[in-house]
Amino acid sequence: MTDFEGLVAVVTGGASGIGLATANLLASRGATAVALDLNPDVKDPLTGIRADVSDDESVKAAIDEVVERFGRLDVVVNNAGIGSQGDVAANSDDEWLKVLNVNVLGMVRVSRAALPHLRNSPSAAIVNTCSIAAWAGLPQRALYSASKGAVYSLTLAMAADHVREGIRVNAVAPGTADTPWVGRLLDSAPDPAAERAALEARQPHGRLVSADEVAGAIAYLASPLSGSTAGTILAVDGGMHGLRLRPQQS
Ligand SMILES: NC(=O)c1ccc[n+]([C@@H]2O[C@H](COP(=O)([O-])OP(=O)(O)OC[C@H]3O[C@@H](n4cnc5c(N)ncnc54)[C@H](O)[C@@H]3O)[C@@H](O)[C@H]2O)c1
Repeated sequence: MTDFEGLVAVVTGGASGIGLATANLLASRGATAVALDLNPDVKDPLTGIRADVSDDESVKAAIDEVVERFGRLDVVVNNAGIGSQGDVAANSDDEWLKVLNVNVLGMVRVSRAALPHLRNSPSAAIVNTCSIAAWAGLPQRALYSASKGAVYSLTLAMAADHVREGIRVNAVAPGTADTPWVGRLLDSAPDPAAERAALEARQPHGRLVSADEVAGAIAYLASPLSGSTAGTILAVDGGMHGLRLRPQQS
């Protein structure tokens, strides 16, 4: 499939996990795919450019560099994000500001810098990485959930603002996905195997989501073939958001 042939895509957080799988998939379907990351260490055919989405100057410089080197910008995947644990009382103001700065304002900064270029594209799309945490109340994730709830609403508002300019905005909402991030979380649990089993059991399909499955959904939303899809939040969570199964009979 070569639906991204001739298009230039940037993926923030594109050097690991969901972002890396997405950048590779877009490249395999014809895109010039650029990973914008704090650690932009990616292999051919990807290009890595260092960018910190929490720093406006860094974001502007990275988007300028993409357009200078590749001549255009068609697809933005706002995927960089960081986690935080605890209930509403667990984190300091500084921690709240840090996570919201990366997870929400990071998307604002990258979109703001990209919009003038996206307006010149016949196939412009933005895809934001939201989370099941925007929809479902998960324990000990107050700050992270608030950040992803903001991403959910921001996606809809952006979709409304830009659809008539020909820029489609959508989001994916993954369940717990098997990425280096979740690997780190599991490694820090007192009993990693039990923690993994609990996370798998929480999702109706009984396993973690793969980064490639999320990448597939992002590519679907970003593709010029999806020209009528705007303002959609696509769950990639094994049914966790929408399904209510009866307990499994043993
Ligand atoms: N893994 C999951 O279970 C899961 C579930 C739902 C949503 N998500 C979301 O998916 C996205 C990617 O998560 P992942 O699991 O692939 O994580 P990951 O840690 O494997 O990758 C995240 C990447 O983002 C980069 N990054 C972090 N801060 C950055 C910054 N300030 N500027 C630029 N790059 C930065 C990191 O260097 C890393 O390469 C995040 O937005 C996360 O909230 C993940």
